[in-house]
Amino acid sequence: MKRILIFASGSGSNAENIIDYFWRRPNMSIRFEIFTNNKNAGVIDRARRLHIPCALIEREQFNDEKFLEAIGEVDLIILAGFLWLVPEYLTKAFSGKIINIHPALLPAYGGKGMYGDRVHKAVIDNKEKRSGITIHHVNEKYDEGEVIVQATCKVETNESPETLAGKIHRLEFAYFPIVIEQLIEG
Ligand code: GRF
Repeated sequence: MKRILIFASGSGSNAENIIDYFWRRPNMSIRFEIFTNNKNAGVIDRARRLHIPCALIEREQFNDEKFLEAIGEVDLIILAGFLWLVPEYLTKAFSGKIINIHPALLPAYGGKGMYGDRVHKAVIDNKEKRSGITIHHVNEKYDEGEVIVQATCKVETNESPETLAGKIHRLEFAYFPIVIEQLIEG
């Protein structure tokens, strides 16, 4: 039995997509748990509906090394729309075992404050022809860990942040579970 933690701050559609993907593969026995830093996050309702344990974390707790005890043994930590910087004690303790998904082609459009529609708006404002997703390892800096995979989509001349977000989510739903499967099997 593998244990995977998902950290999410928002809607949690990636979290649900990942859980759903592995439920369709019952031969892969995985226990999921969700952590959120946002008491209003949509991911909380999804967790309830999916019967996945979901815990709310405070910043002080997250930045304190004692949080390692709450985490325990894990096979993988997934950041799926999680907005806090991961402290160094965690990146060290779980080196190679924390991954993030970013809704653009890093190193472009990454870093602190670059999340959600802000990213898509910047891509459109700069008249980029392509955008995409980056799945990467997590280190102690925002969006700077080693890239695992990138996938691209076209940015049309009449693209809006909403339509681009839809294309990006489709890429995320297709790629993220497969990368996770490869990492936990490898
Ligand atoms: C995704 O686009 C992801 O790339 C980014 O935050 C968004 C989260 O969406 N890091 P959701 O909460 O999974 O719907």
